[in-house]
Parts: sequence; C-alpha cells; structure tokens
Amino acid sequence: MPKLVVVNRAGDEKTIEAAAGMSVMEAVRDAGFDEMLALCGGCCSCATCHVVVDGAWADKLVPMSEDENDLLDSSDHREATSRLSCQIHLSDALDGLKVRIAAED
Ligand code: FES
Repeated sequence: MPKLVVVNRAGDEKTIEAAAGMSVMEAVRDAGFDEMLALCGGCCSCATCHVVVDGAWADKLVPMSEDENDLLDSSDHREATSRLSCQIHLSDALDGLKVRIAAED
C-alpha cells in the first residue's frame, strides 16, 4: 500500500498508508485529520480539500483540470504546488507522496 506523509496545520507530520486508487482526500480524512473538511465529498466543487504538495512530488502528479485550477484560484492561500486532494489518486508510483493541509479559507 502506498505511504502518504501528511503535515497538518500545526506542522505535525504523520505517515499513513492507504490503498492504491483512493484519493489523497479520502486517505487523509479516513486517517482522522479533522482539518480535511472535503465538504463536496470529492466531486471537485468545494476546495475544502486543498493541500500543498511537496515540491519534489509536484510534477509527478497528473495535471490539474480547468475546474480544479478555477477552484484553487478562489483560495486566498494558493501556493505554487497547491492541489485539491480529491483529485489526486494514490498509486505505487506515488508511494511516499508528501502533502501539507493548506490554511483554511
Ligand atoms: S472534496 Fe470538494 S473539491 Fe475536493
């Protein structure tokens, strides 16, 4: 199972494991991070699953859709490697992916 390194808003880091195919949002939420609101349930319409991807991983992800880009633009906390975590699906190729939960808008 791919490992995922998650940094919460307090800066605490935790490594979790999740099945390939799950979204990063589902993996983070299921691991008990209550900062991951994910209000729309993963259908790319709320932006409350915003994460900042570690720079070493950013270009290994599938490119974002126009919808994802537009939603991220609505955040005051967008950074160069911001993504919506419901749009990133775990795989063995992403084993060790590191993300930080973005500040709340
Ligand atoms: S959970 Fe709503 S956009 Fe990701």
